[in-house]
Amino acid sequence: MSTRQRPISADEPPSAPHADRSEALFERARRVSPGGVHSPVRAFRGVGGTPRFMSSGAGARLRDVEGREYLDFCLAFGPLILGHADADVRAAAEAALSRGWSLGTAEPYSLELAEFITTRIPWVQSLRFVNSGTEAVMSALRVARAASGRSKIVKFEGCYHGHVDSMLVRAGSGLAEAPQLDSAGLAPEVAQETLVAPLDDSGALEAIFARHGERIAATIIEPVPANYGLLPQRVEFLQAVAAVTRAHGALLIFDEVISGFRVAFQGYAGLSGIHPDLVIYGKIIGGGFPVGAYGGRRELMELVAPVGPVYQAGTLSANPLAMCAGLANLRRLTDGSVYRRLEELGERLQRALTGLPGIALARVGSIFWLLSSRSALPPLPVRTLKGFPVDAAACFGPLFHALLERGIYLSPSAFEVGFLSSAHTEADIDALARALREITRPR
Ligand SMILES: Cc1ncc(COP(=O)(O)O)c(C=O)c1O
Repeated sequence: MSTRQRPISADEPPSAPHADRSEALFERARRVSPGGVHSPVRAFRGVGGTPRFMSSGAGARLRDVEGREYLDFCLAFGPLILGHADADVRAAAEAALSRGWSLGTAEPYSLELAEFITTRIPWVQSLRFVNSGTEAVMSALRVARAASGRSKIVKFEGCYHGHVDSMLVRAGSGLAEAPQLDSAGLAPEVAQETLVAPLDDSGALEAIFARHGERIAATIIEPVPANYGLLPQRVEFLQAVAAVTRAHGALLIFDEVISGFRVAFQGYAGLSGIHPDLVIYGKIIGGGFPVGAYGGRRELMELVAPVGPVYQAGTLSANPLAMCAGLANLRRLTDGSVYRRLEELGERLQRALTGLPGIALARVGSIFWLLSSRSALPPLPVRTLKGFPVDAAACFGPLFHALLERGIYLSPSAFEVGFLSSAHTEADIDALARALREITRPR
């Protein structure tokens, strides 16, 4: 392979003669990285075709290497609640950059962000920053096991908790009794430590605890499951999850990587009044920079090194650039105006899509899921995997591409949700609705 490749400039003028630059770049990328990407869903496997190589983002828009603009409802899979390249977040990151971008010492920036969060979210008395949601999940599970002296973890079918080995399992035919590995490369014993329960079924969870309760360290759940479409749970179900978990001396872990700072500043724990023992954040907490965090009751967090025996560390953890960007991002969310604005936009989208043939919209605040099917659509909200129409994935590909042709970028998978940001306008919402009306119009 030639090592003299043409440089890829984000600023190349759109008139450059490269109508198929994404194809050419994808071809090159596949030679040097698995599937040409660094996270699988970006490869468009779920929708077919070649991923568009994006060179920049501003506000609610992405721009590809050929200079085409897209109205973006994927928003980097959730962190960008203020849209791309928000001026405040950018200014904070630029100021941090000028002070040096990795100190590897105690520093005041993570302190400021940690204080900002712990003073506003009472059930997070102490927290530790890491570099991703996955890392935060892995560490929180370790704390739960150390605290309880037990090893099993209960998770729910359809919830995603990053690529932690023990979380890459799904319910087998006997549900909790025989979980199946969801990835190659895992030790089979990994599945033994995970019990998989169905969502929206407190009886099934009680049965699992009745049988394994003494060995269960924690129950982990996305309180707003948003990784298998959007499967909003009843508050009563989440209350039952908390009650049965605690009745058996296990810890309740909320994975709020998507819902944290998104459905409300305090996440779904704040909205529902169900306060977990440990909570996991990611995405919005870093304003689009690589940050994850786990936190909770002080005595649990004091099990973590250097105070306690749970080892967890990170060369790049609490990177000052990311901490300053995260703080600037969260500062904008405290007075509630962003959430009110997002709710207005969400309601507008919901109204505009009501009655469109073959399409349904599920929504929790600014998280939405477009569900398409040729058969009868299920009544919404769908709360469990059983409600997922069999042809939803097959129908989504053509819909995704029809929108892409019209300059609208959704997350490239039927199972991923979409996001609104405060950078979106009414006109942007109307553009999405208009495009969907055009696409679904009977011919
Ligand atoms: C609920 C949830 N937990 C954990 C993760 C993993 O986070 P990351 O991709 O930052 O490792 C994700 C990622 O989308 C997520 O949605």
